[in-house]
Amino acid sequence: MIYLKTSEEIELMRQANILVSRTLGEVAKWVAPGVTTLKLDTIAREFIQDNGGRPACLGYGGFPGTLCIEVNEVVVHGFPSNYTLREGDIIGTDCVVELNGFHGDTCYTFAVGEIDPKVMALCKTTKESLYKGIEACVEGKRIGDIANAVQTYCEARGYSVVREMCGHGIGKKMHEDPQVPNYGRRGIGPVIKNGMCLAIEPMINLGSRNVKIAADGWTCSTKDGKPSAHYEHTVAMVDGKAEILTTFDYIQEVLGDRFI
Ligand code: MF3
Ligand code: CO
Ligand code: CO
Repeated sequence: MIYLKTSEEIELMRQANILVSRTLGEVAKWVAPGVTTLKLDTIAREFIQDNGGRPACLGYGGFPGTLCIEVNEVVVHGFPSNYTLREGDIIGTDCVVELNGFHGDTCYTFAVGEIDPKVMALCKTTKESLYKGIEACVEGKRIGDIANAVQTYCEARGYSVVREMCGHGIGKKMHEDPQVPNYGRRGIGPVIKNGMCLAIEPMINLGSRNVKIAADGWTCSTKDGKPSAHYEHTVAMVDGKAEILTTFDYIQEVLGDRFI
């Protein structure tokens, strides 16, 4: 069941999504060699709570963090831990905030110090593919058009698309219908309508597309151990177009020329 949001509900979505975007701006201040991922998680949790929000991942299905932590080969759903970031790592931080009954969801993959140019190119392409997906998100087109835009952009550049994890509808619940895959054919899937709110989130691998789930039941990593990148925006369909409710501007302000 796809819930179309009213303009009042979309206004509440805007507020939740600004808070989650500001949260990753705070996280950005701390991403550096020597910092633990648990420290990043604490920064995010305290910032959300200080601003009247609820860290929606914490306790979701038993998930132990405010942030999903995605270091190097981790694709999604890694736990915050005492792992200390090292020069050359990449780290995705995926965060969901609930504010006034609505959810905001965003993810950004950071470079820790200097990284391999091949990995930097993976991150850049993954982020660009997110915007290609958003451009394809137009009233009257279909979810498959978003999926195909992401897939063709990434595969043309030699990367592979994770199939097991998808974007999703979002609103009063973190995960609503429809699923928004990052691969598929144009012209298939649900029709995109005004009032839809969607989280679009390409998860793109340097090597093969295959993934595995760790014994903890959550941590999803590439099978070949090669890096994976992940960027995510929440959008709302307003006047026929996708309005991006999240923003990486807060991250960019902090990172300056280290912004990917
Ligand atoms: N933020 C993730 C997404 O993009 C979901 C987090 S799963 C949780 O859909 F268990 F951590 F909440
Ligand atoms: Co997310
Ligand atoms: Co999401």
